[in-house]
Amino acid sequence: MREKLLIANWKMNFSIKNSIKIFEEMKKKSLEFNFSNNNLKIIICSHYLSTKSLYDISVENLFLGVQNITHLSQNEGPFTGEISAELVKDYVDYSIIGHSERRNLLHESNFNISEKLASCVNVNINPILCVGENEETRLKSNHIDFVLNQLTDSLKGFKNWDTLKVAYEPLWAIGTGVPCEPNDAKEMIQAIRSELNNLSNTNEIPILYGGSVSSTNISNLIDSGEIDGALIGSSSMDPEEFFKIIDICRSIWKI
Ligand code: PGA
Repeated sequence: MREKLLIANWKMNFSIKNSIKIFEEMKKKSLEFNFSNNNLKIIICSHYLSTKSLYDISVENLFLGVQNITHLSQNEGPFTGEISAELVKDYVDYSIIGHSERRNLLHESNFNISEKLASCVNVNINPILCVGENEETRLKSNHIDFVLNQLTDSLKGFKNWDTLKVAYEPLWAIGTGVPCEPNDAKEMIQAIRSELNNLSNTNEIPILYGGSVSSTNISNLIDSGEIDGALIGSSSMDPEEFFKIIDICRSIWKI
């Protein structure tokens, strides 16, 4: 079975104090759940300020990630405001790369994203590459070409396939409370999988869905067996809800 991942994207939320509080609640729940299966990874991506504090209280069955790293290739230097993969590598195993909020608000290009992917793998951070179309592109039925183009451009020169995770996140579903229809998500994920198979020659890269995932819609999304997990924003900020999602997934995946 391909590896399964449930990833919390806390975005620019929670003071350090609140991050610790929420993480402690999640820790308690994760111990109750008694995860022992290496095939399921629960990953918490906080903002940088909380990363070290969470690392200091971390437990075996909750992994940590950051939400971005610089596209610059230098590990240190005169780059005001930037954070390199090298600077976070001791605290996290994962980084979200190319989230649509960054692509749109901060004009990140596919080329920048390819540079970030390279920096991640240089220091053994597993990248979670986000791709997804906006509403206009979907309405024009151009969504599959658009997303496959994002994928291939972002992965130019990439070779470390065993580290890569991909998240399909349609922009119109993020933060709206309205997720992608399961069949539409399935169609896109199959297209991404076939492209990844061509590029990498492996069928083992986990492909996740993200965009308004909640405990009420997760089972419909993952039932098809095509989707290897979820990247979860607002529902991951409430430990009760996040672990409800985890519970549902575990029973469907039987892990
Ligand atoms: P959402 O965010 O679950 O709040 O829609 C998902 C994401 O942006 O990764």
